[in-house]
Amino acid sequence: MKSPPSGMPAPRFWSWITQHTLKPLAGACMMGAMNAEAKRIRIGVLGSGSGSNMQAILDAIAAGTLDAEVACVIADVPDAKILDRGRRHGIPSLYIDPAPFKTKLDGAAEARYIEKLRSCGVDTVALAGFMRIVKRGLLEAFGGRVLNIHPALLPAFPGLKAWEQALAYGVKCAGCTVHFVDDGTDTGPIIVQRAVPVLPEDTAATLHARIQTAEHEAYPEALRLLAAGRLRIVGRTVAIQNHP
Ligand code: GRF
Repeated sequence: MKSPPSGMPAPRFWSWITQHTLKPLAGACMMGAMNAEAKRIRIGVLGSGSGSNMQAILDAIAAGTLDAEVACVIADVPDAKILDRGRRHGIPSLYIDPAPFKTKLDGAAEARYIEKLRSCGVDTVALAGFMRIVKRGLLEAFGGRVLNIHPALLPAFPGLKAWEQALAYGVKCAGCTVHFVDDGTDTGPIIVQRAVPVLPEDTAATLHARIQTAEHEAYPEALRLLAAGRLRIVGRTVAIQNHP
């Protein structure tokens, strides 16, 4: 194997390493800037509800703490509030009919989503309260650069209403997880987790609100690491590099 040219600047060095050394390693892959020249990731957000996580992402971009752009917002619910938020920010925001499936994005509907995301120049897909299982077609179309946020400390409490599951189970600590999406449900490699306490007086609503506050830090943080080219997936572990 040849050596990197001497004096190569750091971003190019990592690009070179990815190209020449990581690809042949089974199960290892760098996730980050598409190449040394790609400065800013372009995020396509998929959601079904209020869009508070997308708002946190937009706030981080506006504050200059996340070098990214939200290129479009797509919802599977026609009147989802996330679309209003996107429009208020001047982002192309549209409903795409997910029919005929009730719980997954598949077949012709999946193709419509992929086409729209591609036409907006998206390289990274952020699921933010998207209440559907995404399938292999979308994952492959974006080279595995599909992230999700889940309101529990995975692998505990996958699936729906995780905060209610946590409360019913009697755990003392709950939280949230940002992970790469694989073809299971809430099973992909974990990027960032944030823990919050469960208090004796908690209701499902108060616990969910506390978890959501943690989510609003965790999602921008995970995207910041991705945008900086600092994530490397080895097996099911996401290693965080000190430098890109
Ligand atoms: C969040 O709690 C997230 O963890 C879950 O769906 C909720 C979406 O909330 N997947 P919002 O639409 O971002 O406010």
